Amino acid sequence: MRVLPKANDICWCGSGQKFKRCHKNSTDPVRPGRISPLRPVPASIPRPMWADGGVLEKWDEPRIKSDDVIERMRQTGREAADTLAFLGTVIAPGATTDDIDVACHDRAVSIDAYPSPLEYPGGPNAYPKSVCTSVNEVICHGIPDDRKLIDGDIVNCDVTLFKRGVHGDTNATFYVGNVDQASQDLVRITRDCTAAGIAAAQPGNRINDIGRAIQDLAEKHGYGVVRDFVGHGIGEQFHTDLQICHYYHPRLDDPIEPGMTFTVEPMITQGSYRAQMWSDGWTATTTDRSRTAQFEHTILITEDGPEILTTPSDTSNHPYWTL
Ligand code: MF3
Ligand code: CO
Ligand code: CO
Repeated sequence: MRVLPKANDICWCGSGQKFKRCHKNSTDPVRPGRISPLRPVPASIPRPMWADGGVLEKWDEPRIKSDDVIERMRQTGREAADTLAFLGTVIAPGATTDDIDVACHDRAVSIDAYPSPLEYPGGPNAYPKSVCTSVNEVICHGIPDDRKLIDGDIVNCDVTLFKRGVHGDTNATFYVGNVDQASQDLVRITRDCTAAGIAAAQPGNRINDIGRAIQDLAEKHGYGVVRDFVGHGIGEQFHTDLQICHYYHPRLDDPIEPGMTFTVEPMITQGSYRAQMWSDGWTATTTDRSRTAQFEHTILITEDGPEILTTPSDTSNHPYWTL
């Protein structure tokens, strides 16, 4: 487990510089900021059951989807991916994570999609924003607020759209300005872990082959694999009971079958994989404040192998394909 260095220690990033001359500021902990008022979604847009203070879904959807659901998921998945790629255009030093929320919310509404995280039940309060923005040591579910992005930060944006009665769930980690080599390595290997997990999602394999592939690659590089958050079945429901661990779990030995749709979304850390929660009940960080990255796709299992449903129309400005 990595502990924060003292000011005169050598920095953890490999530069050979003193910590105070190098990464002291960029490793200042992320702190909660001000959360702006709720952004409404026009009543004309079809909404999931949790909108307007509604209840949580039952997580009981059948694992094998109909051709009709699959085709709708292809379309909504692509639109979620296009929205995620679009968020990259607002990410820069000085932009706030709330600016990212505005971009995601307005874009979703402009294409008649409901941003699935908005009012999703959980924690002491329903999730108050339209996207999750997780900076540096924040593992996942960071809430957009007035914190300005700083040169050298890394930020994960997790977009889920609800349209055509189905969800498309996808995320990527973006660089803010110039990012140190250690963080770039983390982000690239995390992308590769996601790709390795997806490649292992072959019909005939078992669910735990996915986590085995991810864990093998991550640990080869000395990284940690977060245990407390997992991939999930998805479709007409945002989350279903199907769990995809990103580490090897011996009991998750159900066969992977054509027609299944689920997410692969490993969270990889520079240090400890242990997570702790802010008092907002949503924001999860590493316990040692080491940085962490994530990529997520919604995939379909076909007879021929996995199909990434959250592939954007143009892969040339999407970090999963360009890093
Ligand atoms: N998109 C997240 C996932 O990958 C879930 C976010 S739920 C929220 O499963 F309420 F935090 F938005
Ligand atoms: Co997900
Ligand atoms: Co997600």
